[in-house]
Amino acid sequence: MWKGMKLRAKSDEEAVDYFPPSPRKDWSIGLMKLVSVLVIFMGGIVLGLSLSANFTRYYNSQTELFFPTKLYVSNCDKDSSSIRSFIEQTHLMHGMTDEELFWRASLVPKMEEYPFERVPKVAFLFLTRGPLPFAPLWERFFRGHKGLYSIYVHALPDYKLDVTENSVFYGRQIPSEEVSWGSVTLVDAEKRLLANALLDFSNERFVLLSESCIPVYNFPTVYEYLLNSAHSFVESYDEDSPQGRGRYSQHMAPLIQHYQWRKGSEWFELNRELAVTIIADYKYYSMFSKYCRPSCYPDEHYIPTYLYMFYGGLNANRSVTWVDWSRGGPHPARYGDPNITVDFIQSIRNNGAFCMYNSKPTSICFLFARKFAPSALSSLLNMSVAVMGF
Ligand SMILES: *[C@@H]1O[C@H](CO)[C@@H](O)[C@H](O)[C@H]1NC(C)=O
Ligand SMILES: *[C@@H]1O[C@H](CO)[C@@H](O)[C@H](O)[C@H]1NC(C)=O
Ligand SMILES: *[C@@H]1O[C@H](CO)[C@@H](O)[C@H](O)[C@H]1NC(C)=O
Repeated sequence: MWKGMKLRAKSDEEAVDYFPPSPRKDWSIGLMKLVSVLVIFMGGIVLGLSLSANFTRYYNSQTELFFPTKLYVSNCDKDSSSIRSFIEQTHLMHGMTDEELFWRASLVPKMEEYPFERVPKVAFLFLTRGPLPFAPLWERFFRGHKGLYSIYVHALPDYKLDVTENSVFYGRQIPSEEVSWGSVTLVDAEKRLLANALLDFSNERFVLLSESCIPVYNFPTVYEYLLNSAHSFVESYDEDSPQGRGRYSQHMAPLIQHYQWRKGSEWFELNRELAVTIIADYKYYSMFSKYCRPSCYPDEHYIPTYLYMFYGGLNANRSVTWVDWSRGGPHPARYGDPNITVDFIQSIRNNGAFCMYNSKPTSICFLFARKFAPSALSSLLNMSVAVMGF
């Protein structure tokens, strides 16, 4: 318009193209035209507004309308797409702080029925520094059981798992923080794994594993064992030694008494109810973060003590992850390629001893085992079908 006016001022002849002359006698016709153009214009605005209102009901933003993020949701599924994204995270990366995450993960539905078909899943929580050397073994273990498990990986903040798109570990890393072993940051990482897994309302059992852990039974056995257990599997015992009660601090009284102090392996298995109470607890957790140091190892005491104090009846007090402490010292035995034999793996699966399971004896005490060196992988893959059933 500005350009047109300028042109007109310059030369009337040139301006003709822009403002065709209208004779005076057509003045009233021109007004009617102007009015009808305005009416059509206003009608267009009203139509446009109502259409856009309809669109915003389905799309959160213009960007999503033209570049939909949820391409996999079919059009007739629009209403369930909102509940789906609430009950299960499809993208594990988020911008929540621990405080925000733990609060959100602690929300528990009051209704007993679910408005969707809930198939309970086992959440496998991998606490690792870097790569997962036994990933090929785990891939075999999980193969064919989609929908019954979910995987979460907490690695060092800068580490990115190098896996292909068809790996079960693809896209399963959660936002992580630095972990210094033996400090309370290890408990923080465990809680972070639990909290992220709690965001999926179908996760019912939660197993903590490390990069040196392997499964010793197949998936259906593990799934049935955990889902049907009345108890969670967290080792929790009283040890009257410098490495046991000796690590208790008087500062924890009166909240935590000396006789309540417990010890146990950090490699837990928890049901959903206990997982929620642990990520929701700050009162007892803060006693450990303040007073369980130095040389105290909060990861060996916080959960075993907390469960003993409040949920002893729900705990089997034993771990389902086998480990060999028989050689003494601060670290358990590590098994590499020369040590892997059929007899050795069989003895972890069943060494003739019995454990209590739902108040009855069972020959299956351990579902997982540690610690294994990466060199053990090929021998384990070689015998997984024949010995471990996957
Ligand atoms: C585990 O220990 C607690 C506390 O001592 C006890 O109440 C509970 O019965 C034990 N669990 C089993 C399965 O024995
Ligand atoms: C593994 O085998 C090596 C070589 O035979 C042996 O020296 C080592 O003690 C074994 N390790 C364990 C944990 O048994
Ligand atoms: C695989 O197992 C078979 C017997 O089960 C054995 O003969 C073979 O040497 C093993 N191979 C490797 C690479 O361990």
